[in-house]
Amino acid sequence: MKILLIGKTGQLGSDILRNGIAVHDIFAPEREILDIGYLESIEKAVMSCKPEIVINTAAFHNVPLCETEYAAAFKINCMAVKELARCSKKIGALFITFSTDYVFDGKKRTPYFEDDEPAPLQIYGISKLAGEYAAMSVWPDKTIIIRTCGLYGISGAKSKSGNFVDKRLLDVETNKYLEISCDQTVCPTYTDDLSKAILQLIGKETIKPGVYHLVNEGECTWYDFTKAIFEIIEFDAEVKPVDRKGLSDDMRRPLYSAMANTKAKALGVVLPYWRNALERYLNIKYLNRW
Ligand SMILES: NC(=O)c1ccc[n+]([C@@H]2O[C@H](COP(=O)([O-])OP(=O)(O)OC[C@H]3O[C@@H](n4cnc5c(N)ncnc54)[C@H](OP(=O)(O)O)[C@@H]3O)[C@@H](O)[C@H]2O)c1
Repeated sequence: MKILLIGKTGQLGSDILRNGIAVHDIFAPEREILDIGYLESIEKAVMSCKPEIVINTAAFHNVPLCETEYAAAFKINCMAVKELARCSKKIGALFITFSTDYVFDGKKRTPYFEDDEPAPLQIYGISKLAGEYAAMSVWPDKTIIIRTCGLYGISGAKSKSGNFVDKRLLDVETNKYLEISCDQTVCPTYTDDLSKAILQLIGKETIKPGVYHLVNEGECTWYDFTKAIFEIIEFDAEVKPVDRKGLSDDMRRPLYSAMANTKAKALGVVLPYWRNALERYLNIKYLNRW
């Protein structure tokens, strides 16, 4: 399949490229070639490539920054997504874009289903949900929204100065005592697993448009996850749980945002459990170091 991939330097984008390049014809321009913030450049890129699938992994997803730079957040997370969907429609391409667990308010205590009512608590979640609606509004027949959570991958999230796992490992180089929040329950997800699941999903002829939840199975708090990191690498760090009640400054994060994969699972697409994924990540990324 001919694929236009946006965000190839990111955690997820780089894994989709690495895992998909052997079987697909992937055109993955650098941001210097296609910056989706310049909405007028999107049509030219899509029309000159004429892919069968457009995959957008780009986002403005520094959550605190979205509160102050809300115009940029809405431009990238909503308007650019809408324009990509519109251009995909023009050539009949399948459009795949990514959303977040932060579309939910976290009031549930069991994993969110794909059709649960979203109610985002901050600008990031609002802008991503707006992007979901905008894409579906222009290309409902062939838009797939994949909601995921707590991503970590080999390339590290540049816009967040590294992913959660890498940051904890850096932390202990300077300080053996860490305070980590225990108030948010999530599904941390390894982008290698997520990228393989996406590649599996696009191979399914029976795939229908709409929202999918793709996360590593199981759930944990960031505190549990941090403890698991140090258990796996057998490093003796002191980790103290802290209850921040989902607050950072005035901004709220969902206290519970574990998600259930029901739709992709029905097609046979399931990701491994989070701890198994974390073990594989640490083995690959830190084997030589620890
Ligand atoms: N990270 C998480 O914890 C998390 C959780 C839930 C959902 N998600 C969603 O999952 C998706 C992938 O996240 P990720 O962690 O893989 O992101 P990432 O590592 O930060 O990568 C983002 C990619 O998008 C590119 N990009 C950013 N702005 C762009 C623009 N204006 N034009 C073109 N390219 C642009 C970046 O390019 P540069 O290298 O040039 O910056 C980078 O290649 C996003 O939609 C995100 O909202 C992420």
